[in-house]
Amino acid sequence: MDLKNKIQEKFTSLYGTAGEFFSSAGRINLIGEHTDYNGGYVFPGAIDKGITAMIAVNGTDKVRAYSIDYDESVEFGLNEEDAPKQSWARYIFGVCRETIKREGKVSGFDAVFAGDVPLGAGLSSSAALESTFAFAINTLFKNELDKFTLAKIGQSTEHNYVGVMCGIMDQFASVFGKKGSLIRLNTKTMEYKYFPFNPEGYKLVLVDSCVKHELASSAYNERRLSCERAAAAIKKNHPEVDFLSDAKRLWLDEVREEISSEDFLRAEYVIGEVQRVLDVSDALERGDYETVGEMMYQTHFGLSKLYEVSCEELDFLNKLARKCDVTGSRVMGGGFGGCTINLVKDELYDAFIAEAKTKFAERFGHEPKVYDVVISDGARVLVD
Ligand code: GLA
Repeated sequence: MDLKNKIQEKFTSLYGTAGEFFSSAGRINLIGEHTDYNGGYVFPGAIDKGITAMIAVNGTDKVRAYSIDYDESVEFGLNEEDAPKQSWARYIFGVCRETIKREGKVSGFDAVFAGDVPLGAGLSSSAALESTFAFAINTLFKNELDKFTLAKIGQSTEHNYVGVMCGIMDQFASVFGKKGSLIRLNTKTMEYKYFPFNPEGYKLVLVDSCVKHELASSAYNERRLSCERAAAAIKKNHPEVDFLSDAKRLWLDEVREEISSEDFLRAEYVIGEVQRVLDVSDALERGDYETVGEMMYQTHFGLSKLYEVSCEELDFLNKLARKCDVTGSRVMGGGFGGCTINLVKDELYDAFIAEAKTKFAERFGHEPKVYDVVISDGARVLVD
């Protein structure tokens, strides 16, 4: 049975009626990692894996939701003290609360949802869940909040109900995603541009280490604090610096003695990464995928050695990609596990995947998972 039929059947058996289908997507990011909370650029796109939900207004003041993947249901009210315990339900609750805070109307509704975006793989299943509900609530209650606000609702849900002080990239990609296009977003001005992405002769493929890091959210928040400390130190000499992305590399050197060596390395990575996104944009305009790939390797080096968000498995996959002449490879997303994203020539693809599976299994006792990237639409009503 396909996913929609399964959802519909469950919805009818639980609530006796039917509702409308909504969907949103997980994301990849070509380059620009950990730059989004530093006012820098990111380069994400939505993918063909995400969350699908059937939702209907129920005329009460209670939300009832069922997760097919967790085989769990919850019921909660819409006041702050009604927050549910289950982590998946807190995302839905958070989206409701954040909508209300922005003067959107929300009353009771019923929902059944399921996903096909792998959890903990760095593909942002949580943004897909937030965007699906933010978009659905906006549509069902005719709130007419704009798409930026919907992305912000998801981001604030992470901040206020999950405790991850994330940037805007994942929710932005999940809401704004467009089939066949990556999006370069300036997270300071929120200006963005779609880049049709169809690199002839190359494939984008994700290799999932299947490592899930328990402490990822606290380590993520620590990285963010390091960046804020470095930016604050630089601002003393250069008041125009509001975000680390505003700083020149030389200005960082000026404060080397004032900040910890750890904060220095984190900031060094971010300042380099902001520039790499711009270099990749230029290279893409020229169709110069060799440069795109080289930048990806540089990003991996920075994420591993300066920002320290890689792990043994991801470094192993990255080295292996180099050995197999893969054009570009790096850890993708927040890090501490999850996937590498690889830009690989068509003719090298089969050999790379075979080698990655064999060598990784020899070393770590299990094969990595492999996902071909299909760049797809973000949040939407599903009509057929
Ligand atoms: C996570 C966060 C994003 C971003 C990336 C790293 O996915 O949710 O906001 O910071 O990590 O680029």
